[in-house]
Amino acid sequence: MALVSELVRLSHHGGIAVVTIDNPPVNALSSGVPEAILAAVREAAADASVQAIVVRGAGTTFIAGADIREFGKMASGELPSINLADIILGIEDSPKPVVMALHGTTFGGGLEVAMGGHYRVIAPSGQVGQPEVKIGLIPGAAGTQRLPRLAGIPKALEMCALGEPVGASEALQHGITDRIIEGDLLEGAVAFAREIASKPFRKTRERNEKLWKVGAAGNAAMTAVLASVGATFEAGVAQERELFDQCLRSTESKALIHAFFGERTVAKIPDIPKDTRTFTIQRAAVIGAGTMGGGIAMAFANAGIPVLMKETSQEALDRGMATIRGNYAASVMKGRFPQETMDRRLALITPQLGYNGFEEADVIVEAVFENMALKKSVFAELDGIAKPSCILATNTSTLDIDEIASVTKRPEMVLGLHFFSPANVMRLLEVVRGATAIGLGKRLKKVAVLAGNCEGFIGNRMVHLYLREAQFLLEEGASVAEIDGALVDFGMAMGPLAVCDLAGIDVGWRIRQEARHREKPGVRQPLVADRLYELGRYGQKTRRGFWLYDANRRPSPDPEVAEIARQVGVEQRPIGRDEIVERCVYALINEGARILEEGIALRAVDIDIVYLNGYGFPARRGGPMFYADTIGIDRVLARIEEFNRQHGPELWSPAPMLRRLAESGGKFHA
Ligand SMILES: NC(=O)c1ccc[n+]([C@@H]2O[C@H](COP(=O)([O-])OP(=O)(O)OC[C@H]3O[C@@H](n4cnc5c(N)ncnc54)[C@H](O)[C@@H]3O)[C@@H](O)[C@H]2O)c1
Repeated sequence: MALVSELVRLSHHGGIAVVTIDNPPVNALSSGVPEAILAAVREAAADASVQAIVVRGAGTTFIAGADIREFGKMASGELPSINLADIILGIEDSPKPVVMALHGTTFGGGLEVAMGGHYRVIAPSGQVGQPEVKIGLIPGAAGTQRLPRLAGIPKALEMCALGEPVGASEALQHGITDRIIEGDLLEGAVAFAREIASKPFRKTRERNEKLWKVGAAGNAAMTAVLASVGATFEAGVAQERELFDQCLRSTESKALIHAFFGERTVAKIPDIPKDTRTFTIQRAAVIGAGTMGGGIAMAFANAGIPVLMKETSQEALDRGMATIRGNYAASVMKGRFPQETMDRRLALITPQLGYNGFEEADVIVEAVFENMALKKSVFAELDGIAKPSCILATNTSTLDIDEIASVTKRPEMVLGLHFFSPANVMRLLEVVRGATAIGLGKRLKKVAVLAGNCEGFIGNRMVHLYLREAQFLLEEGASVAEIDGALVDFGMAMGPLAVCDLAGIDVGWRIRQEARHREKPGVRQPLVADRLYELGRYGQKTRRGFWLYDANRRPSPDPEVAEIARQVGVEQRPIGRDEIVERCVYALINEGARILEEGIALRAVDIDIVYLNGYGFPARRGGPMFYADTIGIDRVLARIEEFNRQHGPELWSPAPMLRRLAESGGKFHA
């Protein structure tokens, strides 16, 4: 065992380094301790044989806090004031993942150090807290900044302002820790470290999603609550009134109210009368146990519906079940639901190689490879087995559902149930006709939106043009980082080119191959994605696509892509952020207007709900069609006409509906 200092030891357990803090009685952060922890982490990280690092406390506790006696000496200058915050930054910057193993009381500076790790595991009796207020202080080493990133702002406020500790299960539930370790903590922490060693990990200070979750209205609410501190009741009420009025007038509030009612509106289908008989779904079956089949089976099981899952080989079936089990186990570990729930859900999924029991299914969802001939052969088989009232559904993203249905003797029972990946998580379900299916969507806790049968339905038909514009912009001189950055700033959950990398450049290429015969000769097509495919740059899975990815799937720009884009031979020019956003988002709006006109979507709000729940469109903008209304249809049209002049009518002819609305001063949402 190597000694980094008297106070901190470094040892090795296979590929896992263990840093042990030994400053009895409570491992306080006396001078020398933080420095030695950082030195030990750095030494371990520099060791090629180390894959991950565990930090733990010897004796009865992890770090119980700062050394309170030293505060006075620091204030008087007797001891140099160490900058604990900088030391924690150093730990957090470790190139290898750091797992903090907590037991006893991880308080104050102890929790601040723990939050500098990339993961935290905790003993069942462990407690964490920021009790500084109890001695008239506040956390002073970024605890007020890291805690809200892990636990969310409300919980962090409560913990920092009241100083009360929380126990292990509450810490897990709020995301402060990642797992409770029953039994030996060191052993459990080392096993956990092995598990995560090769996975991507993040610095706590870069985890901003819980902060964003609060939104402008959440911030206003907190400001209003804080206005009660040190002011009269009347002054507080006056400030609340002012903030309320601001919120009421905000586009964000209008957009969110639109989305709130929109989810109810999409369930109303005018040509399906209220008294239409729908079938109750008691048993389901899924064909295929791949990415989608497994997720769909989970969605059924989560809703309490027993589901059969059929594959062609034992190997594929085992792989599918292993993924399902892994997903459920991860949820149990994160404290989302108990082990019993996992067991109950798993018991509802029956993996099998044959069609046993399919004759009793009320709905069968096909999720085999995206290939017309294969899907037709599956539906021909199903036609011979399924009971007459069974809904036969396909999860195809792009194929013609009428053609798939044509091989059955009951095409009226065939419909599209377009789940989004991951199917057990994503809220959107595009339903290509059918009342029972809309009801089913509700039971699966999805927002079901009705779509007409056309290439790509609502969502993918529009996204195709959005992604096409992103590529055109690249060919015209914008960089990958500029394009994705502009759309992320606009509020999209991911940039369009990062989306292509995630979905797989090879998957996109295969879909284009199927659609090639429908392309009009002489019309500009984006070429970069095909070049990337030819170079074997399939996106995240090969670590190279539009972006480069490191072992942790962190993207960085690749100058080679700019060169590939230049070689396409389109004239290059500097392109501003506004143009990037307008070209991509107005492409969505223009196609959305066509989809409305053709009756593929029932209402503009249906399109918005698809985009808010399936494509990461920012809720505060209300969806693409609502956004068009807030910009002004005439302004959107004017820009599209300009794009038409620049890029030609084949790419940018304004949808007739857009023109009509602009002329009449109308809106998509009247
Ligand atoms: N991946 C997505 O993001 C996504 C999203 C929406 C829809 N879809 C659609 O879902 C369908 C499935 O896609 P995926 O990503 O799950 O593919 P996948 O390759 O992960 O899974 C397909 C599975 O089907 C199995 N299979 C093939 N023929 C079979 C048969 N005759 N009987 C039983 N099993 C069979 C394969 O062994 C494989 O495990 C495709 O139509 C796809 O377009 C995919």
